[in-house]
Amino acid sequence: MTGYSRLFSPLEVQELTLKNRLTMAPLYLGYAGEGGKVTKLLLDYYRIMAQSGVALVVVENATVDHPLGSGSNRTIRADTDENDKGLALLAAAIKNEGALACLQINHAGRFAGTEEPVAPSAVETFGRLPRTLNKKKLNTIVDKFVNAALRVKKAGFDMVELHGGTGYLLAQFVSPWTNKREDEYGGSLENRQKFPLEVLREVKSAVGDFPVGYRFLADEWLPDGLKLGESAQFAGALADGRVAYISVMGGTYESFFLPEVVEKSKNAGYMIDLAAAIKKEVNVPVITAGRIDTGALAEQVIGSGQADLIGLARVLWTDPEWPAKVKQGRESEILHCDPECDTCMQLVMKGKPAFCVRWPHEKLHAWKDKFE
Ligand SMILES: Cc1cc2nc3c(=O)[nH]c(=O)nc-3n(C[C@H](O)[C@H](O)[C@H](O)COP(=O)(O)O)c2cc1C
Repeated sequence: MTGYSRLFSPLEVQELTLKNRLTMAPLYLGYAGEGGKVTKLLLDYYRIMAQSGVALVVVENATVDHPLGSGSNRTIRADTDENDKGLALLAAAIKNEGALACLQINHAGRFAGTEEPVAPSAVETFGRLPRTLNKKKLNTIVDKFVNAALRVKKAGFDMVELHGGTGYLLAQFVSPWTNKREDEYGGSLENRQKFPLEVLREVKSAVGDFPVGYRFLADEWLPDGLKLGESAQFAGALADGRVAYISVMGGTYESFFLPEVVEKSKNAGYMIDLAAAIKKEVNVPVITAGRIDTGALAEQVIGSGQADLIGLARVLWTDPEWPAKVKQGRESEILHCDPECDTCMQLVMKGKPAFCVRWPHEKLHAWKDKFE
């Protein structure tokens, strides 16, 4: 046992107790089947993530509305009874390994993998012009978030997370860059944050005391995009709306591949500053992710109060023994995600299931043998 006493201390999140400060941050790797079905590969993936010893596994984004809200045809579906059994298996696979289970629900908006995506405003998106959502359609989408959240609860998950990150629909409303509306959902920050707050309010009123977390975009890292000043105010409104936690990230598909963002994202703890700024504004737990790849860094973040919980995505996938190795003082044995490599991202963007090129040869081949 090492001296990382803060990192391995429990935390109450509403009615739940997290056994330590480590969570798995959502990581879509293209393991669901065509049509968003829960596959054996997906179950194996999350079983391994839960076995790692993290307190909470947040499962990758699942769509509230296929195909309009789906990132791809392999996005898990949380919008149909046909997937209820699969979602229940997914929740059980995680919980049986002693971790709490959360599913992230999402509408991809202008980043959906459909021919005619929808968005708050018709702002060009990689050469396409999305259709503007009218008020009636917005009400339908609120209902779809509610139905998906109820399905997550029924499936046996411990929590649900609303995806307000990565520049998807909820974030598109808050952003001054993608929201050019002239109705009550556009203009001032108060108006731009109205839609995600409505989604939160309606979801919470439907699910009762079931905890609802929020993946949060603190900065789009775009010249005309959402910045910390406004996002911090929005975080305060989410906390007032009684979110269970705020899981902070930066960037969208429009900024992830800009040279300066690519460079910045190679640094250990590259989003801690965003989380620390949001933490100052809210009285709910804050999660920070982004190459937090040593026990010392994770402990320092928790100890200094910059965040309450650590989110591990690629860090944990590259080495699922990361928590055990940190806890047992075997950090020199950790297999680290290579900051110069983005093979997993490139694979999923091409619609292929991902693997990690750092894995030892045998593991890599055994895992690839599982692909359909
Ligand atoms: C291939 C890939 C898929 C991701 N999928 C999701 C997702 O479904 N939902 C989400 O909120 N974030 C997603 N993220 C962001 C991660 O949760 C995390 O914030 C980021 O990868 C930084 O943490 P890490 O350095 O430990 O990977 C994804 C990131 C990558 C690289």
